[in-house]
Amino acid sequence: MTILITGATGKVGRRVAARLRDLGRPVRAAGRSSTPPFDWTEDSTWGPVLDGVRSAFVVPYDGAPLTRPFLAAALDAGVKRIVLLSGRGVDVDGYLPPEWLHANPHIDGEAALRSAAVDWTVLRPGWFAQNFSEGFFRDAILAGELRLPAGDGAASFVDAGDIAAVAVAALTEEGHVGQTYELSGPRALTMGEAVAEIAAATGREVRYTDVSHADFVRELVDQGWPEADAEGYAISVSPVRRGIDAYLSDGVERALGRPARDFRDVMRDAAEAGAWG
Ligand SMILES: NC(=O)c1ccc[n+]([C@@H]2O[C@H](COP(=O)([O-])OP(=O)(O)OC[C@H]3O[C@@H](n4cnc5c(N)ncnc54)[C@H](OP(=O)(O)O)[C@@H]3O)[C@@H](O)[C@H]2O)c1
Repeated sequence: MTILITGATGKVGRRVAARLRDLGRPVRAAGRSSTPPFDWTEDSTWGPVLDGVRSAFVVPYDGAPLTRPFLAAALDAGVKRIVLLSGRGVDVDGYLPPEWLHANPHIDGEAALRSAAVDWTVLRPGWFAQNFSEGFFRDAILAGELRLPAGDGAASFVDAGDIAAVAVAALTEEGHVGQTYELSGPRALTMGEAVAEIAAATGREVRYTDVSHADFVRELVDQGWPEADAEGYAISVSPVRRGIDAYLSDGVERALGRPARDFRDVMRDAAEAGAWG
């Protein structure tokens, strides 16, 4: 039975697809450039990728609350098991300011999944370690300076490979239905400590600079960002500054029976794989 993966070119989806293929499972890796194409914002593309699918790993669209209608389409198509990538803080008061809660698609997505007639598992990861090697911090690492309004706050960065391993377990094994797995790495690091680990792994000169929320937004706007996007980025970092992203979660251990991988090991592997050239 085909397993659908949305976001299959992304940090987690790509790893889920690779692991499933290694297990010999039939995979439909869906995205805007796949065949057939899948675009969250074009619901006419949903049916073709759901055809013949019995299980799905859903990487939601962050731009709008589309998980709920997509789940309805998936159930209509006969999907029986769904593993949803969500995020930390969905149920933590004050994690996001109330006026920004609408911008978090995971709140409505989780609620829709929990009430659906389907075998479900929710993954709630913290900040991905791979943001530094594949994501929105990578260019800053290459430029030698990461500027963020994160202060001396720490985050318990989680390996995207660990998230993918939990997703694959939930898709292919019994015992994960109805579980919500909060996922983190085994220790919290400040942005300065994280960057120092990468400097040590790569031999690059790279530093972290704390900037105020207002200065960060102004710098991004000066670079051409829409103000709302710049503000949203700063808001997403604010839990780190406020110290509420440093807690450790046991989801990797609970789901896989082994400890989560440490940031240092993950970044060393990324350096060896040429993540920063
Ligand atoms: N990064 C973090 O630290 C973090 C932490 C907690 C939770 N999360 C959550 O994890 C999820 C994935 O984040 P990520 O960092 O893994 O993202 P990512 O690596 O940037 O991947 C995003 C994926 O979404 C797909 N995509 C984008 N727009 C699309 C569209 N209109 N239609 C179909 N597919 C589209 C992209 O595929 P194509 O470009 O091929 O279409 C890509 O595969 C998000 O919901 C995020 O909120 C992230």
